[in-house]
Amino acid sequence: MSEMNEKLVRAAIDAAHNAYAPYSNFHVGAALLLDDGQIVTGANFENASYGMTLCAETVAIAKANSDGQMRRIVAVAVAGGPRSSEGGAVIGADSITPCGRCRQVIKEVADLNAIDLPIHCAHASGYETYLLSELLPYGFGPASLKS
Ligand code: THU
Repeated sequence: MSEMNEKLVRAAIDAAHNAYAPYSNFHVGAALLLDDGQIVTGANFENASYGMTLCAETVAIAKANSDGQMRRIVAVAVAGGPRSSEGGAVIGADSITPCGRCRQVIKEVADLNAIDLPIHCAHASGYETYLLSELLPYGFGPASLKS
């Protein structure tokens, strides 16, 4: 496990403390590594109109984009679980992976940056790393519009 990966996973776990998830009580944090070592985080953001919920990964990517940093993203980490008594997530034995919509949002970044983004998914004793191409094979991306 590389030190940088561990730091990114830690940042995702910490970000889950900032989740606004009063409806599901499922707290998720995401962390993006930029090419200069900076980390951008996000947390899930629910709404009384349930379907308007924004996932942690999408929030983090939109945040990076708003700061003009989307093209610098080189890795993603995600961590989540039921809300703990301290307010963060209880990270389970099995890691959670990004939902389908977030995989599509991550694909936009991966294709823009021409990298198969690694996605580090936290579990209780560490993390599993997947490539976006494993989580979203045969995906639809910017190039599909030109075919
Ligand atoms: N959630 C995320 O933030 N990311 C995912 O990839 C999966 C699900 C959030 C959405 C909702 O607030 C809660 O987890 C339960 O689905």
